[in-house]
Formats: sequence, C-alpha cells, structure tokens
Amino acid sequence: MATDVIILAAGQGTRMQSALPKVLHPLGGRPLLAHVIDTASRLDDAQVSIVIGHQAEAIKSHFTDPALNWVEQREQLGTGHAVKQVLPHLRQGSSALILYGDVPLIELDTLAALLNQSTGKTLALLSAELADPTGYGRIIRDANDDVTAIVEQKDANAEQLEISEINTGVMCLESDKLKSWISEIKANNAQEEFYLTDIIAIAKSHDCQIQTCRPASLNEIEGVNTRAQLAKLERAYQGQVANRLMAAGVSFADPERFDCRGELVTGTDVFIDVNCVFEGQVQLGDGVHIGPNCVIAHANIGAEAVIKANTVIDGSASKGAVAIGAGVQVGPFARLREGTVLADDVRIGNFVETKKSHLGRGSKANHLTYLGDAEIGAGVNIGAGTITCNYDGVNKHQTTIDDGAFIGSNSSLVAPVSIGKDATIGAGSTISKTVPDDSLSVGRCNQRNIAGWKRPEKKPD
Ligand code: UD1
Ligand code: CA
Repeated sequence: MATDVIILAAGQGTRMQSALPKVLHPLGGRPLLAHVIDTASRLDDAQVSIVIGHQAEAIKSHFTDPALNWVEQREQLGTGHAVKQVLPHLRQGSSALILYGDVPLIELDTLAALLNQSTGKTLALLSAELADPTGYGRIIRDANDDVTAIVEQKDANAEQLEISEINTGVMCLESDKLKSWISEIKANNAQEEFYLTDIIAIAKSHDCQIQTCRPASLNEIEGVNTRAQLAKLERAYQGQVANRLMAAGVSFADPERFDCRGELVTGTDVFIDVNCVFEGQVQLGDGVHIGPNCVIAHANIGAEAVIKANTVIDGSASKGAVAIGAGVQVGPFARLREGTVLADDVRIGNFVETKKSHLGRGSKANHLTYLGDAEIGAGVNIGAGTITCNYDGVNKHQTTIDDGAFIGSNSSLVAPVSIGKDATIGAGSTISKTVPDDSLSVGRCNQRNIAGWKRPEKKPD
C-alpha cells in the first residue's frame, strides 16, 4: 500500500533557546528529524514529504537523500495549514500518515498498526491516556464511546479539561479524503490557527469512523520542546539501544551509563564497563571487553580483544576506520587514530598514540610512544618513548620497521627511514638512515666518564 508520509517541522522551537533548528538537535548522535525520516522510510512504498518553515535551508541542507520531498510553509498558520502545503504531492489512492519532526521515537510497528486501521471508511488516530494531559488536545467521545472530535487545551471547557485521553497528533487516513476535507478547516478558535485536529469532527460528519490506536510506550509520542525533554528522550533512546544489545549477548556494568551515537554491532559475550561512548560504525567481536571511560569511533574490534580504561579510539569514516585484530590489548590511556590497523595479539600500552600505522602480529608498543605513518612488521618491540618523527613541517613521511626488530627506549626514528628485519636500535638513538637486517644501530653520543669530578660548591656571601 502506497504511504505518503507528511512530517511537520516548520515551527520555530523557541523554547530550545538555540541557534540550531530544533529538529537538528541530536538524539543518539543523529538529528531528531533523521530518526523520524528513517522510521517512516522503512514503511512499504513510502514517499516522505517534510514541511519546513523556520530555518528551512539549514534543515534541508542537512539531508542528502534525493527522494525526500521538501515543502515550504512560509507562514506558520497551524498544523492544518502545514498539511495543506503537501496536498499537491500526494499520490492518488495512497494513505496519508502525519508525523512530527520533533517526536523522534515513534516506532515502525505503531505506524504499521495505524496504516492497517485506516482502510476504507476509517481514520486511524494515535491517542494515549496520560496522568497529566495538560497542554494536549483532548479526545472527545460520544455515548457509544465513538470519537467525535478533538478539542485543544486552549479551547476546552472545564469538563473537557478533565479528559485524560489525549491526541498525540499522529494520524492516518486516505489521501483523497484528506484532500477533500482539509478545505473545511476554519481558523475560528482561540489561537486563530488552522487546526489539523478539526479533521476529526469533519471526518465524523462524512460518516467516517475514527479508530484509535495506542503506542507501545509513551516515549514514542513524546515531543521535544525543551532541552530537558531532549535529555529525557536521550536516556530513553539509550535505554532502548542497551536493551537491544543485552538481548544480543552484551553485558553492561551499568546500562544507564552507556551512550551509542552511531551503529554498534556486537558479537556475544561482549562486556562494556561504565561511561563508554560509541560513535559512527563500531563492531565488537565475540568476547570483547571494553573498560570504563572509553570513547570508540569508527572501529572494528576483533574477538577477545581487551580495551582498557580511558582509551580513545578515533577512527574516521572519511580518513580511515581503526581495525583491531583478535586478542589485542589496548590501554589504559591509549589513543588510536584514523587508519590504525593492529594485527592479532598486538599490545598497545599507556600513553601510546598511533595514526595511519600498521602493526603486525604480536608486536608491542607498551609505553609513551607516537607511531604515525608507520608500517611495522610482526613480533616487533617498540621501547618506551619511541617517536616516529613523521612530519618535516610540510610533508608526512613513512617509517618502515621489519619483523622482529627491537627499538630501544627513547629513540627518534626520523622518517622516511627503514629498519631491517631483526635489527636492534640502541636506547636513546636518533635514527635517520636505513638500518640493515640483523644489525645493531646506536645513534647517540658516546658516554664519557670523568673520574673524581667534584661538584661546584656554593660561594660564601
Ligand atoms: C498539537 C495538536 C494537539 C496535540 C499535540 C501533540 C493541533 C492543532 N494540535 O498541538 O492536539 O495534542 O500537537 O503534541 O494540531 N507545525 C508546523 N506548522 C504550523 C504549526 C505547527 O509545521 O503552522 C509543526 C510544529 O513544528 C510542530 C507540530 O507541527 O512540530 C505541532 O505543532 P504545535 O504548534 O506544537 O502543536 P501543539 O500545540 O503541540
Ligand atoms: Ca508541540
């Protein structure tokens, strides 16, 4: 069944107190509006139109999908007026589904249920029972319990204000009916706006039944008007992600101290300690252990790898993800940047930074090191304080270290430079020329010992 989705997003969102349009504020790392668009786009044969007004260009420029249909509402004269702008774009014989750019957690199953209810002579309306219905439009029912109208808070009388069944705003009806009835909406109400909600009484007057549906959870229908509401929905969203991951075999030290701002794909028996943030595309293999306070972006982490406390993995979608092999140990306090590739069983210890560097199987850099633009073989030991001097102030240069090499502590490897297989670098060396296989290279001043040398003494005043 063809579904024409209409997402209303023309309002100003003044209460956010923000230069950023409300629907671009992030939830789980993605704009509010992106959540609604993604869910709606998953419906069969969906065509998505978005009504924009305030900061229309800023909103539009954020989305690249050419299939989206952007419709401008120049003046915000009410929700009915907003929907009216989309009418020329509706396909004949389709169902029209009305959603809101600032109600991000609506679920696909709820939308599918509404669509199923809106066939033939019924309009499907998503309503909810709230302990505190203040601010919402109230659902009016007759003696037969049939819905006859929606009355807005500002237009309701004392008796109507007692009603706890509210309009979520989400509804679904045949496009052709929406087209013919919308012109009957008048702005004769307290706010002098064209209320979409008037369509309910109009439908009823045309012998159309109103069928109400309920959301599975109240989070689905919550809108964002303030930053406090956004923060509350952020926790709800993160709770949903954590629940999904737990069902798939992930243990959390505390699922309430977890943030996923991208797509996290996990194996089984993964453990995630407190205060970890995941961004972009991250994959964790079976048995991966993530210590507390780790920030992990755009990374693929192999089975049984251990990422210790306070590690930052900064992969990048455009400049290169980070790939970590099976059984690798990283951290605590390590930083793996874009294009880092660690083969199985590598060890990266504290205060080690890597960028565009490959380390072969079993290689180790355990302390205080910078490895940038380096191709490092298997079984290499990088001593504490080793620096690849990869930047001459203008260009970046490559360092190559062959299998089995041993780099003594506090060495500077001035790139471009290569170190041969099983070569050894003496501690404190500055290496700027090729080191052949199997040789020892020591690039430092010889030590002088001066026998019987006396320290200077303090002069009398
Ligand atoms: C609306 C409903 C109310 C319901 C509530 C649920 C109407 C008249 N009332 O009230 O019954 O309980 O939602 O949250 O529909 N918008 C436009 N263009 C406009 C006006 C609004 O795009 O001209 C968009 C806004 O950006 C917003 C949404 O429509 O996302 C809702 O508008 P708002 O003015 O907030 O309606 P409510 O007063 O909340
Ligand atoms: Ca609202």
